Amino acid sequence: MSHVLHQRPLQNPFSNSFPFSPPSSSNPKRPISLFTPTTLLTLLLLLIIIGTLCPYYAGLIPQNTIFSSFSKPSLSSSKWAHYTLDQALSFAAKNGSVIVCIVSQPYLPFLNNWLISVARHKREGMVLVIAEDYASLEKVNQRWPGHAVLIPPVLDAEDAHKFGSKGFFNFTARRPSHLLKILELGYNVMYNDVDMVWLADPFAKLEGNHDVYFTDDMTAIKPLNHSHDLPPPGKKGRPYICSCMIFLRPTDGAKLVLKKWLEELQLQPWSRAKKSNDQPAFNWALMKTAKEVDLYLLPQAAFPTGGLYFKNKTWVKETKGKHVIIHNNYIVGFEKKIKRFRDYGLWLADDHAEESPLGRL
Ligand SMILES: *[C@@H]1O[C@H](CO)[C@@H](O)[C@H](O)[C@H]1NC(C)=O
Ligand SMILES: *[C@@H]1O[C@H](CO)[C@@H](O)[C@H](O)[C@H]1NC(C)=O
Ligand SMILES: *[C@@H]1O[C@H](CO)[C@@H](O)[C@H](O)[C@H]1NC(C)=O
Ligand SMILES: *[C@@H]1O[C@H](CO)[C@@H](O)[C@H](O)[C@H]1NC(C)=O
Repeated sequence: MSHVLHQRPLQNPFSNSFPFSPPSSSNPKRPISLFTPTTLLTLLLLLIIIGTLCPYYAGLIPQNTIFSSFSKPSLSSSKWAHYTLDQALSFAAKNGSVIVCIVSQPYLPFLNNWLISVARHKREGMVLVIAEDYASLEKVNQRWPGHAVLIPPVLDAEDAHKFGSKGFFNFTARRPSHLLKILELGYNVMYNDVDMVWLADPFAKLEGNHDVYFTDDMTAIKPLNHSHDLPPPGKKGRPYICSCMIFLRPTDGAKLVLKKWLEELQLQPWSRAKKSNDQPAFNWALMKTAKEVDLYLLPQAAFPTGGLYFKNKTWVKETKGKHVIIHNNYIVGFEKKIKRFRDYGLWLADDHAEESPLGRL
């Protein structure tokens, strides 16, 4: 697998996103890098400009024939390869807010399960799926045009789902970079992992006007009236906030957290020994910016970690009616996650596929 990777013109996700180019210049840059600088470039550039000006917006699908017939010479045959983040956001966002998840092909069943639960709370229209490979981009947009976008470069998809692997790290390391791009374009963004299920609408819980909202990954039970401040550091010298569910406003404070997060990821690069993911870096970033940024810890009863929800029936009973999002974490492996969701009646992708905007996958 690694030689396959080295043959590809893979860019370092960090060098690619650092420094962050202003939103106005980032979009035209992308398609250009796909082609060699020949006279063909001028021709294709013209087509891209035409494509950009074409009516992508207001539910119209980029299905123009000129575009798809000329997409062959590019690296991907995907007719959605030129769909930019800017275009996707103006299509999907409602009231300046968008709900995003980041998926590669192995996660598609979880995406569908999560989407069904989002649709039950009438929020699916504002979902934008950030596809990490062309197969996912095509699959989602073919069934649900305009709701998936790919932010280059494409990472190795097969490796990306192995928790603790380098591929998984690269996959999660892109999260702050994608979220920052969305904030730079001026949108509020709610990020969700797709191994989650909504039992209620989380937007109702976004009280006040804070910069960043997040949930605790600690299993220790807190009183219902717990503080909404960033929790104090634990044994590792930092808190245990989950990078699985985050809401950010396009403020300087929220951008600072994401920039710090990327910085922390660079400071502590992946090593096989550490088997790290992006969560520690997120926590260091929150801790180091807490004085300057308006942070808000969401209520535990509404957003319990899987380590609590799936482990303590007494607590679940006590907090009945208060749960908003259930996260299937504190367990490793797709099969185990699916089984646990089934055991708790939270695997909707089989019996309720018709409720998903993607249908049965
Ligand atoms: C958008 O905002 C308006 C006014 O604040 C509100 O009535 C409406 O419900 C919002 N729509 C969504 C989808 O949140
Ligand atoms: C992860 O990213 C690094 C550069 O940051 C790259 O060298 C490596 O090949 C990538 N690995 C995988 C498995 O994607
Ligand atoms: C929560 O309620 C208890 C008793 O009802 C009180 O003693 C405590 O100070 C409250 N905590 C917060 C953070 O408001
Ligand atoms: C489970 O929840 C109950 C009710 O909140 C609590 O009293 C008990 O200590 C919890 N058990 C464990 C093992 O954390």
